[in-house]
Amino acid sequence: MTEPRVPRRRRFVVCEPRHFAVQYAINPWMSTDRPVDVIRALDQWQALVDTYRAHGHTVDTVAPVPGLPDMVFAANCAVVVGGRVLGSLFHAPERRPESVPFEAWFKTEGFEVHHPESVCEGEGDLVPAGRWILAGTGFRTTPEAHREAQEFFGVPVISLTLVDPYFYHLDTALFVLDDGDGDGDGNIAYYPGAFSPGSREVLERLYPDAVVATRADAMAFGLNSVSDGRHVFIAPEARELADRLAGLGYVPVPVDLSEFHKAGGGIKCCTQEIREIRS
Ligand code: ARG
Repeated sequence: MTEPRVPRRRRFVVCEPRHFAVQYAINPWMSTDRPVDVIRALDQWQALVDTYRAHGHTVDTVAPVPGLPDMVFAANCAVVVGGRVLGSLFHAPERRPESVPFEAWFKTEGFEVHHPESVCEGEGDLVPAGRWILAGTGFRTTPEAHREAQEFFGVPVISLTLVDPYFYHLDTALFVLDDGDGDGDGNIAYYPGAFSPGSREVLERLYPDAVVATRADAMAFGLNSVSDGRHVFIAPEARELADRLAGLGYVPVPVDLSEFHKAGGGIKCCTQEIREIRS
């Protein structure tokens, strides 16, 4: 029994991986002994952008800055809800300068930007999910930043504790399949092993019908996916998860970003979403 799934057009912001590299190791996926192939990375990234556009989504770009090799992970640089932009204060000193060009870009586009006072890594850990924002802590974003986000957006923020260093950002362990379109709770997919016992209970309570993924699908970056409510842009190696989603009426669209896995990132990490005020 499958329901028809209706996509909603999105506005995304991305950053070309012209200066992408693994020059430091700030998560267990990164090793400076494993070089990245920049040409391959550029091709994979371009394919992601082309795929979004082919599905009717708008994609804007922020110019990459030399010396900031993780800038391609645009999702970490802000979170935008109702047209308000909460910038980022990175945990790693190497990434802190990234927030400058991103916040400048948002200001040029006419957005109000608030720079956080505590460590806060944008949509990496703050995942807007319709009526509330799901928020990760444990490795990067702090509980103080969760409170700051709630105060800034005026939207309930639900704190979840991450416990597995491979899933150091919430968006590596969970993604929103459908945000309820302002009416209803929507649904998510997640990997329970990434969360503390109490946080797992919170997710079970909020999302009794969630799609629960395996560790293998999570390690394949299957939960670092982007859904428009119908199409799910997903890592091709996350086969079991893609099959389950197809069985629920979603349309998995495989996009290979394997070169970026070497830095601990995938599809969602490369994709910042601008959520304007919806009527
Ligand atoms: N190397 C980056 C870091 O560790 C990867 C960030 C991936 N982004 C994400 N949203 N999970 O900060």
